[in-house]
Amino acid sequence: MSTQDHRKPLRARASGPLKGSIRPPGDKSISHRALMLGALAIGETTVEGLLEGEDVLATAEAMRAFGATVIRDDGGVWHVKGLGVGGLLEPDKVIDYGNAGTGVRLAMGLAGSHGFATTFTGDASLVGRPMGRIFEPLRRMGVQILARSGDRLPATIEGPEVPVPIEYRVPVASAQVKSAVLLAALNFSGTTTVIEPIPTRDHTERMLAAFGAAIETTVADDGVRTIAIDGGADLQAQKIVVPGDPSSAAFPIVAAAIVEGSDVTVENALLNPTRIGLIDTLVEMGADITIDNRRSVGGEEVGDVRVRGSRMKGVAVPPERAPSMIDEYPILSVAAAFAEGETRMEGIGELRVKESDRIAMMVAGLKANGVDVDEGPESIVVRGSARPAGGATVATSLDHRIAMSFLILGLGAANPVTIDDESPIATSFPAFRDMMTGLGARFESVDGD
Ligand code: S3P
Repeated sequence: MSTQDHRKPLRARASGPLKGSIRPPGDKSISHRALMLGALAIGETTVEGLLEGEDVLATAEAMRAFGATVIRDDGGVWHVKGLGVGGLLEPDKVIDYGNAGTGVRLAMGLAGSHGFATTFTGDASLVGRPMGRIFEPLRRMGVQILARSGDRLPATIEGPEVPVPIEYRVPVASAQVKSAVLLAALNFSGTTTVIEPIPTRDHTERMLAAFGAAIETTVADDGVRTIAIDGGADLQAQKIVVPGDPSSAAFPIVAAAIVEGSDVTVENALLNPTRIGLIDTLVEMGADITIDNRRSVGGEEVGDVRVRGSRMKGVAVPPERAPSMIDEYPILSVAAAFAEGETRMEGIGELRVKESDRIAMMVAGLKANGVDVDEGPESIVVRGSARPAGGATVATSLDHRIAMSFLILGLGAANPVTIDDESPIATSFPAFRDMMTGLGARFESVDGD
């Protein structure tokens, strides 16, 4: 590595049983939305348990750039003084969203209903990700968009003189696309309808309703959801309590499942049905998981997830489950590496356009660590063993979930597993290393690998 290289390699070694309780950080999806709706509401919204990771801090900064007051008090509660629907102000700088795909896509929806130009950009990962899926419906609503290569960041978004409420059938299962359209529609008179053939996480709809938006969801017999929103309603400030992120909880959960003798409780994890596909899958694989203390926090169900180490067996994950665990396939493929037999993950093409091409990254890293794995255009198939070999260094390509997944592999593999850079973990789970070490995980920094 050159002296210019700021990457921080980290190594994970086979660990003894993991024991103890942890509270995962606040849910990333809910945290972004809380700051955004707070910025559009009248009055002061408070947010407890906000995820203070880089992605969400980029949204805090973006809402400040749009004129909202966003501060954190000494007790860790965030306060957002909003500007009212349609009240955002023209930013005097380019909004750099770093690594945050959800943040930028939702914020482009917000900006798209305001009559000034906003320019968005991001890091090397984000500028490579497709944005056409957001531009297409926004353009149909009359929004003007100029973008690099037609569908990449940097992009400049300017709201329409005459907005057009639309009926939009979401062509890919994406909560980000659905949310961008709903957030733009909030400020357009008339009814916009989003049709969702495959349900995705519903935090935007829940939170918009809680803030007082005129939004209604109907579910047809075949499961297709129709979400209608009338623009123009005022939003009222709320007190929000953010539950623990199931997508972050996934890492200690799988770690405890694969390391023999472990007994770990992940407290206060969000159990929204649109987010718990991983737990359902691990249970089908024979993982020893119980959920206690189910309760409601801020309109969402949460619970304490207790996991004990156990031998698992491979399963075929139904493709229709993908949206409820879309961010969990990297760590599921690590669990599969320790399961007896074959685990088939199909219908997961969306993984190729996340923070990295997660199909390619997982397949390459697992192979390098001695795991028997096949790659398809939209699938990963893993044939597990009691103890994968490990021993390799893997690239993380600015992808936090790839980084954490391979560290968890190292906790159970026969030989240490090294990632080339732990820095991306700070985007979603800054306390990952400390929390995992507290449970007994063996991680060590590596100088100049
Ligand atoms: C998210 C939606 C998902 C998910 C992302 C968070 C959200 O993305 O992968 O981490 O908060 O709406 P897609 O909408 O692209 O599936």
